[in-house]
This record gives sequence, C-alpha cells and structure tokens, in this order.
Amino acid sequence: MRMEWSSNLASMPEHEQPVYTCSTCKDQEWIIDPQNPWVATPCPCAKQKQLHRRIQNALIPEEFEEARLDNYQVTSPIQQELFQTAKRYVKNSSMIWQGRQNSMGMVAEVGETQIKRIPDLKQRANLIQKYNSYGLGKTHLQIAIAKELLQQGHAVLCISDVVFMHDLAQSKRYSDEGSAFYRLLSGVIEAEVLVWDDIGKSKYTEAKEELYYRIINERYRQRKPILFSSNEDELTLSERIGEAAFSRLYSMAKDYFVKVKGPDYRVEGTGT
Ligand SMILES: Nc1ncnc2c1ncn2[C@@H]1O[C@H](COP(=O)(O)OP(=O)(O)OP(=O)(O)O)[C@@H](O)[C@H]1O
Ligand SMILES: [Mg+2]
Ligand SMILES: [Zn+2]
Repeated sequence: MRMEWSSNLASMPEHEQPVYTCSTCKDQEWIIDPQNPWVATPCPCAKQKQLHRRIQNALIPEEFEEARLDNYQVTSPIQQELFQTAKRYVKNSSMIWQGRQNSMGMVAEVGETQIKRIPDLKQRANLIQKYNSYGLGKTHLQIAIAKELLQQGHAVLCISDVVFMHDLAQSKRYSDEGSAFYRLLSGVIEAEVLVWDDIGKSKYTEAKEELYYRIINERYRQRKPILFSSNEDELTLSERIGEAAFSRLYSMAKDYFVKVKGPDYRVEGTGT
C-alpha cells in the first residue's frame, strides 16, 4: 500500500469535506492570485478572524460578555465620573501609552480591610453602607474598555487577582523547572494591555508581595499599561500589594484614578 502525504480534498465525498467559515480563502486568510501563485492578497475575512483571536486570547470572563461602554447606565455622579474617565482613557490611549502615565485605576474611597478593622459592629455597618464600593460597574467598565481596545487592534489580557495570584503562587511549586511559573509571569508582564480585576484581593503573603512588585515594576519600566480595580483604598491596597508596587501603580494611573463609593448596581438596579 502506498501512503500519500497530502490528502486529495477534491476527491473526498462532500459530507467529509471540511467546513470553512470563509469559502473564499478556505480559512487561509489569504487569496492566492490564480495567475501567479506567488502573489497573495489578504482575504477580507482576515481582520474579523484576527479580532476573534484577540478576543479569545484576552480571556474575558463569560459574565461580562455583554459589558460595553454603550450599555453602562449613568444615573449618578459616581457613574458619570467612572464613565467619563473610561471614555477619556479610550480616547487618549494611544497618546498616553507613549509615556509612563498610561494606566487607569478604580479603587474604593474607604477600603474593605479598613472597614473590617472597625471593632464596633454598628459603626462598621454604617461605614459599609456609606462607603460601598461593590457593584459600581468597575469590572464592567474595565471589560468595556478592553473590548474597545481589542477592536482597535490591541492585544489585551484580563486577569482576576484571586485566581491569577493563586495559580502563580502554586505554579512555583510544580516540578517543571519553573516553566509554568515563567509562562504565567511573562504572560502578564508582556501583555500589551493588562486588565487586572480586584487587584490586592488575594490573601496576603510576603511571596505574593514580591510577585506584585515584579509584575508592576516590570510593566512600569516597559511603559505598559495596567487597568486595575480594587475594593481596597490607597492605604489598604498599598498594604496588600506592598508600598513599592503601589507607588508605581498609582503614578501610572494618576490622571485616570477614580476613588469610588456609591450604591451597588446588583442591589439597586439602576443605581439611583
Ligand atoms: N452603571 C451600570 N450600568 C449597567 N450595568 C451595570 C452598571 N453598574 C454595574 N452594572 C452591572 O452590574 C453587575 C455588577 O457590576 P460589576 O461587577 O462591574 O461591579 P464592580 O464595581 O466590579 O463590583 P465588585 O467590587 O463587587 O467587583 C455587572 O453585571 C455589571 O454589568
Ligand atoms: Mg468587580
Ligand atoms: Zn477569507
């Protein structure tokens, strides 16, 4: 029996032929000139396919598939501030990405850890209500910005602090000569745009503090933006990720740094 290297698609029965999303280029994303096989032009489907790949690589959480700038409701001053900052960030991104001040941050006015320290239960309950930082649409807006940037052709990586820091810390213990650890670490360091949800939420350890510093300092040095959000405030976030990391993170965001408090959209619906 003679083995052949390439299968002859033309002679395949129709039901066995592969299904292409684009019949023009058979998903090659190039159209070869029938007169000259050395000349190829990009197929119109290529841009769409590249966007699709970028979206898949961005790891956007399923629950935020619908989150966009145009469906973020603005009915309160804090929503207005968050929304305007997000829009301004998207508009100015290519300009500010040239410098070190290239990031955006949304943090609590009074952090979760700060409130937990109040011994008096009644006073604590009052503060929880007065300084709520949950459900204000921080993640919604981070993802909405990510989608705008993906549309513009940029590569984005979205991570959630608790899951990512856990995986990163765990991967250090694998007996694979550090390969998983370095893959995760270089992924977040090298990403063109990093969306970091709930930064500082992960349980504090000294080893994690070092990792926060490594990632943030490296991105700071390489002038790579971070879009972060947190339920901690400036003081408690700095305690959780370390002062050195926080000071860099803060200086990266500066003009795009919003301190939030307001009603929880999950509870109140429209936020009014
Ligand atoms: N202003 C808004 N307009 C439309 N949807 C909103 C708005 N605010 C929040 N949401 C929706 O409410 C849900 C909670 O919002 P989101 O998770 O973005 O809040 P968060 O500030 O990140 O909260 P947490 O601090 O708990 O993480 C999401 O489904 C989000 O899409
Ligand atoms: Mg969130
Ligand atoms: Zn095509």
